[in-house]
Amino acid sequence: MREDFLWGSATASYQCEGAWNEDDKVESMWDRYLHDNHLENGDVASDHYHRYREDIKMMAEGKQNAYRFSLSWPRIIKDKEGTVNEKGIAFYRELIRTCLDHKIAPFVTLYHWDLPQYLEEEGGWLNVETCYAYERYAKVCFEAFGDLVDHWVTFNEPKWFTASGYLIGNYPPGHQNVQEFITAAYHVMYASALGVRAFRASGRKGTIGIVHSFGPVNGVDDSLKTRIAMRYADNYANNWVLDTAATGEIPFDLLCVLSQKYDLSFIREDQLETIRENTVDFLGLNYYSHTLVKPYTEGETSFVVNNTGKGGSNSLIIKGWFEQIFDNPDAIYTEWGTQIYPQGLYKGLKEVYEKYHLPVYITENGIGVREDVSAEKVEDDYRISFMNDHLNAIMNAMDEGVDVRGYFAWSTFDLYSWKNGVEKRYGLVAVDFDDDLKRKPKKSYDWYRDVIDSKGEKIRRKKWDL
Ligand code: NOJ
Repeated sequence: MREDFLWGSATASYQCEGAWNEDDKVESMWDRYLHDNHLENGDVASDHYHRYREDIKMMAEGKQNAYRFSLSWPRIIKDKEGTVNEKGIAFYRELIRTCLDHKIAPFVTLYHWDLPQYLEEEGGWLNVETCYAYERYAKVCFEAFGDLVDHWVTFNEPKWFTASGYLIGNYPPGHQNVQEFITAAYHVMYASALGVRAFRASGRKGTIGIVHSFGPVNGVDDSLKTRIAMRYADNYANNWVLDTAATGEIPFDLLCVLSQKYDLSFIREDQLETIRENTVDFLGLNYYSHTLVKPYTEGETSFVVNNTGKGGSNSLIIKGWFEQIFDNPDAIYTEWGTQIYPQGLYKGLKEVYEKYHLPVYITENGIGVREDVSAEKVEDDYRISFMNDHLNAIMNAMDEGVDVRGYFAWSTFDLYSWKNGVEKRYGLVAVDFDDDLKRKPKKSYDWYRDVIDSKGEKIRRKKWDL
């Protein structure tokens, strides 16, 4: 392991901060959506806003040397006119300083889904003006924190939040409209390029990348039909984010297919030029599972997401393109229907590196389960085994030359997991939501500390012949 390898864990503003309307923070689209629909929300979440010192100290005691977190845009910019909330800036400067005091590198995401509601009211990601508002917000952040931060991320998981918000409809704004999905997705990639451009123009030190919900594609067999389905699936799940951010080119075959049915006239030449000229320095990959596909057979395009973790399963069919498999009898799944498949990370890392030749960080990896946190110690051996096998996958890929620079466990402590609420726990540290949000390190926290201490030597190694 390289000496400067980042061993950290990750959170996101809306999921952990709470303090949803404190210190002049304005509403985000998630605040509005969850309040209006009377759904479980992140008003308090893990109360990181008030307890970040304790949380960061615990990370340091766990030997972690990096913290990936996101800035809340509505905590920093109060209105459409771009008025800066100095209290928001002060909060994040203090948080970053606390990290640095503990020798923890801040790894900062500019956007982890909490769009200010005042922008959502103007059309959100369907409106190109949101891209320019994002550019202005990014400039404020580089100016305010650029002296302290070396690792920046433009967006967390463009595919996940645009597909969920505009195609599947289970995230705000809750639409199901393919044309809107394409428009929003493109605007986010354009905004990401504007963010990269603003970072370079700021003259700040450090690097900037994008974080992708990485679902490397595998097929049921090697037939031509399956390989075509795999290409469609890869364009849908990965390429439009990774190709666009890393090479500056939106997959051309994807544009050709989409242009037959949808209006792409919102794409402007000068924007494409900006995308081409402002590619990222690194790729952040969030890995939970792979995307196993077979050729399309029948039925309408449909998406089912298991947000309950109680029976029911996931399904994804894109008419004429591919079908995703979620019920492989030989595979092991979590209660939420996510296949546990570390081999997919090993193979996917090699593919990504061969394709883009960029440094990679595993910016999220973890397992979401129901847990009883009333005991003093949560004995989460399943999490230890999950992390061990995924770190093993990363180390195998590194042995074969892939330039992986860091690993972030999701999540630093238990937090609010969007539509899954707080019942789906990912944390290395338990948060007792029924007992004053008390923090209790789990067994996996101790294990991870020892792994870091051993510089990875403690990982049980195993090679796969794939
Ligand atoms: C990815 C997202 O970035 C994060 O917000 C989410 O909670 C985790 N996956 C777990 O599903």
